[in-house]
Amino acid sequence: MEDMIRIAVDGPSGAGKSTIAKAVAQRLGIDYIDTGAMYRAIGYKMLKKGINVDDLEGIQRLLDTTEIDFSKGDIILDGQVINDLIRTPEISKQASSCSAVGIVREKLVDLQQKMGRAKSVVMDGRDIGTVVFPDAEYKFFITASPEERAKRRYNELIEKGQKVNYDQVLADITDRDHNDSTREITPLRKAEDAIEVDTTNMTIEEVIEYICKEMK
Ligand code: DC
Repeated sequence: MEDMIRIAVDGPSGAGKSTIAKAVAQRLGIDYIDTGAMYRAIGYKMLKKGINVDDLEGIQRLLDTTEIDFSKGDIILDGQVINDLIRTPEISKQASSCSAVGIVREKLVDLQQKMGRAKSVVMDGRDIGTVVFPDAEYKFFITASPEERAKRRYNELIEKGQKVNYDQVLADITDRDHNDSTREITPLRKAEDAIEVDTTNMTIEEVIEYICKEMK
């Protein structure tokens, strides 16, 4: 137990958190947990079942009958691999709305804490250093300018063959920044003891190097 480490990687949408967190986890040989994917999974299921964000009873019933798991880099919702199904602009919006619902956050934070108690993890999200693991051994807050983040997200979506428009991607990012940082329940903010890394003018490799050096 004493050897367990928890590394929290927080920051706004599209700052490169998941690529960075995944690479750091791989270097250290520990698990990577993408908490954004968990909010996306709930958003996806709510959309599929036609449950609205203000239908708290419906959401509670859904949460009580939902299983989310990670295995070999896949996210599994009720036994089904949903990796690609949750990476669409529609689910991004849906995830942002459902992440403002208290009972959704309670359930997912609880699950995340269980996952991080069982083994060493690199966990990325918005509230890992502040709420999920306030006592994490290492905390990083990854940022980049909205334009740079939009450019990265745009390239990612184009590579996946999706039809997107840069201005729309930028508008979506700005919108989500606003939602994520102004919501009443645990809005996105940097933990006081987190190391902030502005990646606007850095390559992914430079960021990974920097983080690994900070941890030595
Ligand atoms: O990191 P992402 O873009 O996949 O996250 C999807 C949404 O979930 C995003 O709007 C923010 C929210 N989220 C959150 O509120 N808390 C987390 N720990 C992770 C994501």
